[in-house]
Amino acid sequence: MTHILHIDASARPGIAGTDNHGSHSRHLTYQFVSQWQSGRPQDTVTYRDIGQNPPSIINHDWIASAFTPEERLEPWMKEALAESDQLVDELIAADIVVIGTPLYNFGMPAALKAWIDQVVRAGRTVEFDDSNPIDPYVPKLIDRERHAVVLAARGGVNMSPGEEMAHMNHLEPHLATALGFMGITRLHYIAIEGQEVGGELLAASVVEAVSQVKALIDELQVAFQEAPISEPA
Ligand SMILES: Cc1cc2nc3c(=O)[nH]c(=O)nc-3n(C[C@H](O)[C@H](O)[C@H](O)COP(=O)(O)O)c2cc1C
Repeated sequence: MTHILHIDASARPGIAGTDNHGSHSRHLTYQFVSQWQSGRPQDTVTYRDIGQNPPSIINHDWIASAFTPEERLEPWMKEALAESDQLVDELIAADIVVIGTPLYNFGMPAALKAWIDQVVRAGRTVEFDDSNPIDPYVPKLIDRERHAVVLAARGGVNMSPGEEMAHMNHLEPHLATALGFMGITRLHYIAIEGQEVGGELLAASVVEAVSQVKALIDELQVAFQEAPISEPA
């Protein structure tokens, strides 16, 4: 059985194509998760709508607690980390993390950054090896193959990694660094572009992205069938 963590980060609650002013990234995550489940109904999904319910922004108490060794955590520190622990548990449980996200002001929405800040956790998702001062970071989410599917929407065009306007888009590179830091390195990017341009350009981009979602599901479902996920003991 494969477990999906489905995250939506758009501030817009509706789905484009169904609701007025709906979200294009939510359209793509809806396509991905619903098509995945029709191909593999035995698989399970945890849903986090961080666009509508953003994770807390980390504060002084959080930082003091997150860098205190487990055995010295006081009750108030455990309380300060409770939300983070829940989000980390959800990430650890996932085989595929599906992230629907807009591009806001050249990067990820604040809600998605808040989620990243909650899940990058010393001792839980990353370890520090003091014997290697040059690169002390040891990712912890390498116990099994995890994939991240980043389904983005943006107003401009030609902003995919490697394209002419990629310098205006720090979303995918930032996510790749943060996820890779924890050990999630199998990344897949699909985006709807041209939301601010509209018309035929946007319509064609939606059609292309939806067809890429279908192709990615076909590819991943074959991969997951061939390499069954190891169940925890
Ligand atoms: C506050 C805000 C900032 C935005 N910044 C950018 C940007 O930097 N680059 C861009 O191409 N589009 C930008 N856009 C357009 C969004 O990426 C676009 O509307 C996208 O479709 C939003 O995702 P959603 O449809 O899932 O809500 C911005 C939109 C908003 C509301």
